[in-house]
Amino acid sequence: MNGMNKPIVVPIEKIETNTPSIKTFFVKVPLIAQQGNPGQFLMMWTFDDEIPMSLSYVDPKKKFVGITVKKVGTSTEKMHSMPEGSLIGVRGPYGNGFKIAGSRILVVGGGVGMACLFPLILQLIEEQKSVTVLIGALTKDELLFQKRLKKFTTRENFHLSIATDDGSTGFHGLVTELMDETLQNETFDQIYACGPELMLRTAFNIAESKNIAFQASLERYMKCGIGLCGSCCINEQIVCKDGPIFESQVLRTMNEFGHSTRDPSGRLTPITD
Ligand SMILES: Cc1cc2nc3c(=O)[nH]c(=O)nc-3n(C[C@H](O)[C@H](O)[C@H](O)COP(=O)(O)OP(=O)(O)OC[C@H]3O[C@@H](n4cnc5c(N)ncnc54)[C@H](O)[C@@H]3O)c2cc1C
Ligand code: FES
Repeated sequence: MNGMNKPIVVPIEKIETNTPSIKTFFVKVPLIAQQGNPGQFLMMWTFDDEIPMSLSYVDPKKKFVGITVKKVGTSTEKMHSMPEGSLIGVRGPYGNGFKIAGSRILVVGGGVGMACLFPLILQLIEEQKSVTVLIGALTKDELLFQKRLKKFTTRENFHLSIATDDGSTGFHGLVTELMDETLQNETFDQIYACGPELMLRTAFNIAESKNIAFQASLERYMKCGIGLCGSCCINEQIVCKDGPIFESQVLRTMNEFGHSTRDPSGRLTPITD
């Protein structure tokens, strides 16, 4: 296990508003910035609760990391109400991170799922891979990192497509429908995905039908973040330690993937959205 297991309390250096419900918070934590890899996460302490957040930005030189937070409940609402200079606790980095594989890459992000994919995309670009990114959101206002990614579309081997559920911009429909359409015309040797679990299950089924290697970032309720409490289990896997990134061969063995999750008391509950 790398990183720090004791939270370090740091001021929020900068806040960026990305969408009406999503903000990115930048903090200076040299150890996490130097050790953090795309797909890893940290545990963020708001002094009430501690919750997992993916690294959405890592700058080892400037020693900064960013987390991109969607407002969904008590802790994330508290985060959104904090001004620059407020203190938060962070520990990490945790989890396995994405494995870089293949040369023709498809990246599929739904909603705030783009957060953990962004550092991966930067690495893929740096390694001169051919990259196609599909971003999905409910509406055009909720598309995450569209502007940041548009900058790369001048490159020959970078493509960006957008899907919105309400059709307010781009493809009218789910990002998995856009993925299906994209795969009718093109082929890839690696697909990376992050987003709501039903979206991930559909994306995985499509990848399997096309025989393309797939890596997904999964979420489960996390308490310790370091493999001790068992709250984040999915079948035989411990998401905080064995994941959160899982490859096709492991996803195939998980009958809970896309079907059931665990509530804070560990009870299995069906996934409905
Ligand atoms: C590895 C990992 C990476 C994540 N990365 C991001 C990210 O980059 N950006 C982002 O906005 N969200 C991310 N999440 C989800 C984020 O942790 C939850 O949205 C957050 O914990 C909600 O807290 P809350 O108090 O605001 O909401 P609550 O009102 O407590 O709950 C709202 C929802 O969040 C889930 N949740 C609450 N507490 C936890 C917890 N301790 N662990 C996991 N889920 C929880 C609940 O199950 C519920 O579905 C990630 C989750 C995991 C497991
Ligand atoms: S959160 Fe405790 S084992 Fe994963």
